[in-house]
Formats: sequence, C-alpha cells, structure tokens
Amino acid sequence: MRAATIRDGEVHVAEHPDPEPGHGEILLRVHAAGINGADLLQRRGAYPAPPGAPADVPGLELAGEVVALGPGATRFAVGERAMAIVGGGGQAELCAVHERQAMPVPVAVGVVEAGGLPEVFTTAHDALFAQAGLRMGERLLVSGAAGGVGSAAVQLAAAAGAHVTASVRDPALRDGVRALGAHEALDPDDTAEAGPYDVLLELVGAPNLEANVRAMRRFGRVVVIGVGAGFKAQVSLLSVMGRRLTIGGSTLRARPLEEKAATARAMEREVLPLFERGALRVPVAARFAVDEVAAAYERFAAGGKLGKVILELR
Ligand SMILES: NC(=O)c1ccc[n+]([C@@H]2O[C@H](COP(=O)([O-])OP(=O)(O)OC[C@H]3O[C@@H](n4cnc5c(N)ncnc54)[C@H](OP(=O)(O)O)[C@@H]3O)[C@@H](O)[C@H]2O)c1
Repeated sequence: MRAATIRDGEVHVAEHPDPEPGHGEILLRVHAAGINGADLLQRRGAYPAPPGAPADVPGLELAGEVVALGPGATRFAVGERAMAIVGGGGQAELCAVHERQAMPVPVAVGVVEAGGLPEVFTTAHDALFAQAGLRMGERLLVSGAAGGVGSAAVQLAAAAGAHVTASVRDPALRDGVRALGAHEALDPDDTAEAGPYDVLLELVGAPNLEANVRAMRRFGRVVVIGVGAGFKAQVSLLSVMGRRLTIGGSTLRARPLEEKAATARAMEREVLPLFERGALRVPVAARFAVDEVAAAYERFAAGGKLGKVILELR
C-alpha cells in the first residue's frame, strides 16, 4: 500500500507492506484522513508514535470502507463505512483498527468529511462533557475556536444549550465561527472582558490563560487540550482558590484501548445522532490528494483556516 511517510523531517508518499487485521481488528480501505497538529510535531521528530502504531506513518483519524475482518471481529461487516481514531498510521491506503475503536460513518456525512471527524469531535466531546461537565445554560469560552477541535467544540456546546464565546485571532474567520453556533467570536485579547465563564476549553496554550482564568466564575472548570502557542503560563493561584476552580487537561493519543473504546461509544450515543439530523458538520478548509501530502502539511502549518485539512487516499 501507499502511505504518507515521515523520513528525515519531511513527509512524502512511500510503499509499505499491507497491514493484516489482527484479533478483533477490522481492515479499512482509507478514503480520507484528517491532518492534525500532532502529525506536524511527528514530522519534525517531536512526537513519536505510541507503542503499537507504525513509527513512520502519521495520521490519527481516518474514514473508509471495511475490506476485511480479523479473527473475532463482529461489530462491522465487509463493505460498511467506518471511521476511527488511531495512535498513528491513518494516512495510508489501508489501516487495521481495533473494532472497538471504530464507529460507523453517519449516513448524512460524506466520507471525506468523515476522515476529519473522529479526532477533533472525540477530543472536543470528551473535554467539554466528560472532563469539564459542561451543562446547558453555562457559559463556555473556546480558546482557538476556528481550528479542527475548536470548530467541533463550538458546535457541540451550542447544540447542548451552552452560551459559546469563541476566541478567533483571524478576523476573516469570525463570521464562519459564528455560523457554527458561537454566540460571539472575539479577538483573543478581548475574551477576558467578555466573561465570566463557567468552562474554558484551552486549545492554544499559554498566551491568554492568566487573563482568562481571572474571567472564570466560581466553580469554573478549565481544561487544557492544546499548548501549541506555549506550555508554560503564569496563573494567579489566588484566582484559582477564590473562584474554587478546577484546572485539568488530557491527551487522547496514548490512551489504552479500553478508554478509546469508551470515547467511541460516547460519540455513538451522543454525537453521531446529531450528525444524522444535520445539526453538526465538519468544516473542510482544504482537501489534498495523497500525492500532495507535503503541500497538505504546509497548508495546515500556515494556519488561518476554518476547520480541517483532509488528505484523500482514493
Ligand atoms: N490533547 C489532545 O488529546 C489533543 C487532541 C487533538 C488536538 N490537540 C491539540 O489541540 C490544539 C488544537 O487542535 P486543532 O486540531 O484544533 O488545531 P488547529 O486546527 O491548528 O487549530 C488551532 C487554532 O488555534 C489558533 N491559534 C494558534 N496559535 C494561536 C495564538 N498564539 N493565539 C491565538 N490563536 C492561536 C489557530 O489560529 P490560526 O489559524 O490563526 O493560527 C487555530 O485556529 C493543537 O495544539 C493540537 O495539537 C490535542
């Protein structure tokens, strides 16, 4: 099979042996795979694949068609559409995935959009509802709202009845983020003034954290998911104590199968039905053929996009 391949700090297409589905796994012919910040880190050698994932084939999310079943796999039939988060290896023509990590592609979602769905919607759903316990009527600040995870979080929170403030540094993208359900889309330097917030989803990292923490309500929850703009921040602990805040964070990639399966079942229960009825969508900023993988990574790195950059593998 052909796959995006990282060698010497660059990504290009190379031939690899076809993967075989192991016990409980399904083999997917990948139609589309989203690009994520982690792929760019992996390209420059800063984020090695976890054990069990191929070391040189990037890709944390994919969608395609089931073409073979490993021993004991029963959740999907050959020919069905499926999508999944994986620890790596998603940007390839074929990918073996444990069936418990995989989800059906909603009928209402095209397979290209589905390739950019699992990582960002699972991350946003888990952070907002499992970790931060966001409830209807609460006020949420999404820091870094125009990207893949941010555009998912805005839609999920608005659908759940929260009031969503989006921080979006590119003025040209603010209308697009409002159209996804944000009640307001503001410059990152203006969000603290627009508080108070019950929940802060931090997708950018350090730059505005101190001011935003001061804009939290009592019993507020801060969940740190992305730190691309800086991972060391100064925060007043007096603000944390006085407001009785909870500050947490998480990563998805290195979680064990049991935990990834639990997030997939939560997605099937709570998120995929909203895709079926057209209440959620995957905004696609750009799509590239696999032969253009280097250009696709450059497009992602350039920023200034609404939603996802997607690699098409057929
Ligand atoms: N913990 C996890 O499990 C997990 C899972 C998925 C993703 N992540 C991480 O979460 C972050 C967001 O992911 P994503 O897929 O949404 O990435 P993305 O599509 O690249 O979006 C990042 C967003 O943050 C904005 N941004 C970057 N630097 C900024 C700054 N200094 N000030 C204000 N805004 C800034 C970007 O704006 P511009 O376009 O203007 O640059 C963009 O809208 C990434 O760091 C990613 O690695 C973590």
